[in-house]
Amino acid sequence: MSIAKPLRLGMIGGGQGAYIGNIHRIAARLDGEWQLVAGAFDVNPEFGREFARSQGIDDDRSYGTYDEFIAGEVAREDRVDAVAICTPNFTHYPIAKALIEAGFDVICEKPLTATLEDAVQLENLATETGRFVGVTYTYSGYPMVHEARVRVARGDIGNIRTVQVEYPLEWMATAIEQKGNAQAAWRTDPKKNGRGGSIGDIGTHAYHLAGFVTGLKLQFLTADLATFVEGRALDDNAHVMMRYEGGARGLLWSSQVALGNSNGVRLRVFGETGSLSWYQEQPNELIYAPLDGCVQVVKRGAENLSEDAKVRTRTPPGHPEGYLEAFANLYAGFAEAIVARREGRAPEALGQNLPLAYDGLKGVAFVEAVVDSSEATEPVWLRPIAV
Ligand code: NAI
Repeated sequence: MSIAKPLRLGMIGGGQGAYIGNIHRIAARLDGEWQLVAGAFDVNPEFGREFARSQGIDDDRSYGTYDEFIAGEVAREDRVDAVAICTPNFTHYPIAKALIEAGFDVICEKPLTATLEDAVQLENLATETGRFVGVTYTYSGYPMVHEARVRVARGDIGNIRTVQVEYPLEWMATAIEQKGNAQAAWRTDPKKNGRGGSIGDIGTHAYHLAGFVTGLKLQFLTADLATFVEGRALDDNAHVMMRYEGGARGLLWSSQVALGNSNGVRLRVFGETGSLSWYQEQPNELIYAPLDGCVQVVKRGAENLSEDAKVRTRTPPGHPEGYLEAFANLYAGFAEAIVARREGRAPEALGQNLPLAYDGLKGVAFVEAVVDSSEATEPVWLRPIAV
């Protein structure tokens, strides 16, 4: 049976003034694969309904809470095909659990949950029920990140020796959480954010990116967390040393106080015969440095790129693509994976190598091990439970 497109999307959170919900809506629209038809968009039901109206959502599919959303959508023949969860971290688990138990496929924001216990339970639930759970690790949507992954896998840089990955931000360099910034307020509240501050918020992106491109499995880590802004309850700077299976070493830096960095995600992978570097503020380029010293700038859209990069590219080289297109690649991939599953076939390239529940669990386990390591009185190397 072939499935009709566009797929119907529901959304929890992402209401007026929220950040990532709007990025989800743009990304979902870009390729015409999804149509937003229902939602419970705000923690305040009234605001949520008002926002739904502004988005052209029918009143009978605008819900006050996620429980009402589930009750209303389950009863419909044209129920949503998947639900995007765009709420603060501590709500991901109860919302995703309720949706999965009601039979919905889910697209969940990272980190998957605020606690490791919740992440384990959610991943188990996804496996047991067979529901699709995609996790929006944005940086794995970029075509040149896929190109890097393919090049590492086919041996272009030989065995990996060292991985350097960083995610520096500057927006929390002062105590904006004490001055009414809603996004910073929940991110610095351990009950709402989870135990890891910068490491949970953006370190999880960096950790996923490094593992995604290299395929390396983390064996042990040791970490040093710092809180530089006075009165803040969670780390705003993290350094993590990593030992991968097979002997490669890694260093991860996440920071919310790195002045001069808007969104400086950077990955560098050094192998025995070459290196690859990618920087998200120049996302259309991948730098390849082979052993002979002839450094190459590999451009998105170039002819000889991998199929994995090509299927995630929309415009010719020179016309910049970026963050929104990368996010849209995740949405197009989720659509392909969901449809392929229902049609009983293997997904095409776009629907492969997607971040799923287990990747989400790995991220939360990483955060847990980082915080445990940093809190230990003596320096300690720890092994995250999910590697
Ligand atoms: P935000 O604070 O801007 O927005 C949260 C929204 O969720 C608000 O509209 C709020 O009213 C709503 N909400 C809260 N509880 C709710 C509930 N029980 N039911 C319905 N709506 C509810 O937060 P932001 O920055 O958009 O972050 C949301 C999530 O997205 C977080 O988990 C964050 O880590 C993640 N995120 C991911 C990014 C990525 O690159 N993939 C980038 C930024 C955030």
